[in-house]
Amino acid sequence: MVYRLETDWHGIGNKKAMDRIRTALDLYREVKGTSATEAPPKRSSEQGVPPPITYTRTKSLTIPRAVLQGHRVMAAYNKGAFVDAYKILRTQVTHRLRENGWNVVGVTSPGYGEGKTLTAINLAVSLAMETTQTVLLVDSDLQDPTVHKVFGVQDCLGLADYLLDDLPVEDLLVHPGIGRFVLLPGGRAISNSTEILTSPKMVALVEELKHRYPSRFVVFDLPPLLHTADVLAFSPYTDALLMVVEEGKTTGEELQRALGLVRDSRPVLGTVLNKAGRASLSLADMKAMLSS
Ligand SMILES: Nc1ncnc2c1ncn2[C@@H]1O[C@H](COP(=O)(O)OP(=O)(O)O)[C@@H](O)[C@H]1O
Ligand SMILES: [Mg+2]
Repeated sequence: MVYRLETDWHGIGNKKAMDRIRTALDLYREVKGTSATEAPPKRSSEQGVPPPITYTRTKSLTIPRAVLQGHRVMAAYNKGAFVDAYKILRTQVTHRLRENGWNVVGVTSPGYGEGKTLTAINLAVSLAMETTQTVLLVDSDLQDPTVHKVFGVQDCLGLADYLLDDLPVEDLLVHPGIGRFVLLPGGRAISNSTEILTSPKMVALVEELKHRYPSRFVVFDLPPLLHTADVLAFSPYTDALLMVVEEGKTTGEELQRALGLVRDSRPVLGTVLNKAGRASLSLADMKAMLSS
């Protein structure tokens, strides 16, 4: 079955044309074949199971609406094409996850600055606003963690500090006051991110997050696919990926290479065409590539 969605974005409030966005979630193919659907690698038996995470210690933050609006977080907007487009994205992603019994999504894109972080945040936020279940967003762009900045938080501890210094995850989680949305920030930037992201400790953490409460959604904000080995190495621990493409920046060749890299390791739920209106890669080109 093929799902298609095209939504024209007519600006957020009075933002300039640059802010116009058109999102296309093109759930482009049934996931077929064993390679794309095989279970993620299991933890080896010698890896310790982390203690259950309790969420009662999660720090709550009160974030001024203006900060959220300034960074385009959809929770700060009551209505509009901007909000609707993310709701449609949420609906389609939820549907696809549920029909497969999945709950872990990684958000990536071929290159830098194409909108991975904003898409991951707004997907997680819109899921958390609709559902009664917790949605955990994990900033796993360990070389350049930025999710916390979108919520107006400057330097903070996070995933890297758990993985490297054993800080309890409970002390790192943040609740920015939006539905049941919980954030695990990235923490300090680290350079050997591929090794750390696939370390036994990280793999055990993902298993814990995924399986302890199977109804919870976990969204990973990942680095760019074509610039680090992180996504290829880490994607087997997700259930599926969402590919962000920036119209006018991402080239067709880059998208093709990015899809080719992950095609046999994880299913790609679809692509989000971000910052539309400055086209070099058209929606039609993208669809042709996805269905090839
Ligand atoms: N649709 C959009 N319209 C306007 N600005 C956007 C849009 N998507 C992302 N941005 C901005 O572009 C910059 C890069 O986005 P980001 O999500 O951090 O990209 P990435 O995570 O891929 O590096 C940020 O300043 C973000 O606010
Ligand atoms: Mg990012």
